Amino acid sequence: MNDLFLRACRGEAVERAPIWIMRQAGRYMAEYRAVREKVDFVTLCKTPELATEVTLQPIDALGVDAAILFSDILVPAEPMGFSLDFRPGPVLDPPVRSAADVERIRIPDPEEMSYVYMAIRMLRRELERRVPLIGFGAAPFTLAAYLVEGQGSKNFDNMKGLMFAEPVTAHALLEKVTTTLEGYLEAQVEAGAQAIQVFDSWAGILSEADYAEFALPYATRLIAKVKKTGVPVIYFALNSAHLLDAIRGCGANVAGIDWRTNLALASRRLDHKFVVQGNLDPCVLLGPKEEITRRAIRVLEAGTKAPGHIFNLGHGILPHTPVENARHLVETVQGAVSATR
Ligand code: CP3
Repeated sequence: MNDLFLRACRGEAVERAPIWIMRQAGRYMAEYRAVREKVDFVTLCKTPELATEVTLQPIDALGVDAAILFSDILVPAEPMGFSLDFRPGPVLDPPVRSAADVERIRIPDPEEMSYVYMAIRMLRRELERRVPLIGFGAAPFTLAAYLVEGQGSKNFDNMKGLMFAEPVTAHALLEKVTTTLEGYLEAQVEAGAQAIQVFDSWAGILSEADYAEFALPYATRLIAKVKKTGVPVIYFALNSAHLLDAIRGCGANVAGIDWRTNLALASRRLDHKFVVQGNLDPCVLLGPKEEITRRAIRVLEAGTKAPGHIFNLGHGILPHTPVENARHLVETVQGAVSATR
């Protein structure tokens, strides 16, 4: 098996930086759109055969060095007692607005999400001798923010309002969410996930002090629980340049860095404690191939200043990305032998 990705996660020497792409299975691929014509997104997530099929699409089409389970960070919301719909942005109902609402939230038995583990088991069989499989979930703050808001939001002001007006309620919510995610991610590992990425997509709306109170402790607890299973953990906080000092304490093996911060600088801010993952601006993939090459090499060079580097975009691939540009990026990174440590 191509185990470059797993070795890089652990900070071991690698011949070159491995590459995978956040949201690598998705609408920019015709094969994905063909599946989505037949089923809605939630059904796709809940049907192991179909989730397996779309997970494998970018492995075949792009030749990336890792697969990521096809699912969504909001999947655990349903068994917690929320309806989940995508129109196309996520809608969760009823939103959490009070202590009584938090009281009503269920901490599900991880088995209630058994379709996810079935997909993981199928994928491990399919991926044998190919590439490792990444499982994932939300960080507690990000999932809690969606539960409170009930949908995506620019500033997540209802979540922040709850934190500031009723901190005890906010912490009670974060406790329940963390416990749910612990069981969910442990079960993913038990089913065969070989690494776990924790997405903190909304951490960036917080000041460092609020991040240190409402996000980091719960993310750290979740990461520690997953690490106990023995698999490496990637922690990706979007928009987090101002949080890097705090993130130093999260305990993950790998820190995902968005495109706004140079990887060498980010690694320095992290005291060179982490392998870094990232961070080409997803919009670069819309442009000409020469520019993709030039900028990919720049990212690779910055990555050599960290204790290890996994190449990725700085956020998810955009739906209007030409597939051939994504393939060009993968070929460029795989052809550039820059990481020899
Ligand atoms: O990376 C992968 O290929 C695995 C699949 C994956 C999806 N979502 C599939 C998806 C992963 C890892 C996610 C994570 C996710 N989901 C995050 C964290 C990453 C980030 O972007 O910050 C977040 C915030 C979500 C919540 C979510 N899911 C939103 C806001 C949306 C709607 C916006 C959009 O892109 O359409 C989704 C839907 C979603 N999740 C799609 C996919 C492929 C599009 C659904 C479709 O086919 O219509």
